[in-house]
Formats: sequence, structure tokens, C-alpha cells
Amino acid sequence: MSKEIVLTGIKPTGKVHLGNYIGAIKPALQMAGTGSCSALYFIADYHGLNFIQDRKEFNELTYGIAATWLALGLDPERVIFYRQSDVPEIFELQWILSCLTPKGLMNRAHAYKAIHEQNMQAGADADSGVNMGLFTYPVLMAADILLFQSGKVPVGKDQIQHVEIARDIAEAFNRNYGDTFRLPDYIAPEHTAVIPGLDGRKMSKSYNNTIPLFEPADNLKKLISRIKTDSTPPHEPKDPDTSNIFLLYQEFATPGQVQDFRSRYLSGISWGEAKQELFQVVNSALEEPRKRYNDLMASREQIDAILDAGARKARAMAAPVLEQVRYRIGRYR
Ligand code: ADP
Ligand code: TRP
Repeated sequence: MSKEIVLTGIKPTGKVHLGNYIGAIKPALQMAGTGSCSALYFIADYHGLNFIQDRKEFNELTYGIAATWLALGLDPERVIFYRQSDVPEIFELQWILSCLTPKGLMNRAHAYKAIHEQNMQAGADADSGVNMGLFTYPVLMAADILLFQSGKVPVGKDQIQHVEIARDIAEAFNRNYGDTFRLPDYIAPEHTAVIPGLDGRKMSKSYNNTIPLFEPADNLKKLISRIKTDSTPPHEPKDPDTSNIFLLYQEFATPGQVQDFRSRYLSGISWGEAKQELFQVVNSALEEPRKRYNDLMASREQIDAILDAGARKARAMAAPVLEQVRYRIGRYR
């Protein structure tokens, strides 16, 4: 029996931060590492084009995301790693699917709906600031998923609705043309921690409170020193389980280090010291990947070679599925 396809897309819209790493990248790499599934991970660059319309930035962010995943240990022998825009079959399927997608389904998709509602409240034109790429975003995502007969789609909570839409679209196609697409399920990170940002809210590029993953060491140290803490005096005992510093520390330290750190909290550690310790473990965990990241960014032909090879494999998987779709819709001789 062939292995289940696990597929996920990564949108290149900002610098990768510790929250992305812990909440999405680390678990995805672990899943691919087990060898129990066929993993397809790709850079959803044409999804990113909705938001990033500066050519230099678009280019940098795309390479940046690719280099990040490779630097963190993505093994292109085990994972089919490609750039969405290198696989033209996706865009043909997107068109076909869009012809079977009721417009009302897109009206209800959360990203569009949120802007629409904001506009209404502000008394602006209902569709102000909405491009067609944003509106049909979920159809492109459905094509990404369905083209590879994906079984499982790891996503953040905000993307669950889009996987459900992909399922709805697949059902509509199957109903009309006969069983063609596998119905995908999402995997959402219920058990991974929500990593807090510098201000204590969820770390997110939308809140400007992030610690980027590959900051130079001195900047990393500065950022860590800015993590918000309470005013418990230095020598008083502190509760590790309500401390953002402790939460981050756990993600990077060994079990033994975590035990020690816990005792130091209970016997009284100053926030300054706690931050210093946190910096040490994060920095030593990221030192090597940071170096690999910088090396890759300095020789982009290495990244291109990996993504090209990935796209060739992805296209070979996609071609027979698209062929069947064409046949089913009546495009045959
Ligand atoms: P951002 O909020 O910075 O825009 P994205 O929405 O692009 O991040 O998220 C990309 C992935 O990283 C998603 O799978 C999401 O669940 C995960 N992620 C983002 N922020 C965090 C966080 N603070 N803690 C845990 N996971 C996160
Ligand atoms: N829309 C996803 C996001 O914003 C990225 C994405 C594009 C994706 N295509 C996908 C995720 C297919 C999973 C499967 O994060």
C-alpha cells in the first residue's frame, strides 16, 4: 500500500519567528522524519503574491523560507520540497475547480469575510482592498491539496476552514464527475504551545512582537532581554509554569536543563539571570542552523537546485492526476 500523503504549504510573507518554528516547522519536520508518510512541503509563493507586491521582497522572502526549512534540517531526499509556482499543473487545476466552486463559498471564507466586514463597518466600499487573488485564495489552496491526493494537511488553526473548503470542492467534483479526489483531513496543532511574543500576546508578525529565528546573536540577546516580566523581586521564588521565559526555555533545553531551571525558579532566580539562561540555550540550539541559513542565502543556486529537483518530482506526481481530471471533465480526444 502506498503511504499517506502529508502536504503543507508555507506562505512567504514575513521573517520566520520562534513561534512559527515551534508551532509549525518543528512538528512538520518531526512528522517527515518518521518516514511513516510521504511528505510534500512547498513554498506557497503565489499565495504570498496577494500580500507581497514588491518584487525584491517577494524574491527575498521566497528564498528566505526555503533556506529556513533546509537549515533546520528538512531533508530533500525524504520530503518533496518545491516552489508552488514551479508546478503549472496546480494553476490549471485551480481554474477547473473554480468553475465548480460557488461564489458564496468564497464569500464565507474568513480572510475575505473579515475585510468585507471591516469595510462595511467603516462605511467604505464593501470590497475595498480586496483583489481577486485574495478572494479566490481558498481555491488555489484546494488545488494545491487535491492535485496530490493529499490525505493529511498540517495547518495552523486559522487555516482549518480552508482545508474544509478544499474538501467541499473535492466532494462537488466527485459528485459530478465520479470519484476522483481523495478527501483531505487537516491536522491542527492542538497540543503545541502557543508561543508568546515579547509583549506576552501570541507571537505573530501581525503584532510586531516576534523574535526572528535567525537574528545575529547580539540582537537575539537584546530581544530576549525585552521579554515582558512581572515585578517579583530578584530573589523571590517564581512560578515556572506561568513564565513565558520558562515556556520558551523548555522548547530548546534538554530535560535535565529544564529540571535545573525549574529548581532555580522555585528557589528564586532574577529575571535578568533567567533571560541570560534562555539566551544561552536558544542561541546554542540555533547557532548551527543560523550558519547554514546564512550559507544557503549566500549561494542561492544551491536552493534553486533543491527546489528544481523537488518540482520535478511533484510534477511527476501531479501529471497523472491532472490527466484524469481532464478526461473526467470531457477534455479527451
Ligand atoms: P504569524 O501569526 O506570525 O502571521 P502565520 O499565521 O504565518 O504566523 O503562521 C504560520 C504557522 O506558524 C502556523 O502553522 C501557525 O500555527 C504557527 N504559529 C504562528 N505563530 C505561532 C505562535 N505564536 N505559537 C505557535 N505557533 C505559531
Ligand atoms: N494558506 C496557507 C497559510 O496561509 C498556506 C498554504 C497554501 C497551504 N497552500 C496550502 C497550507 C496547502 C496547507 C496546504 O498558511
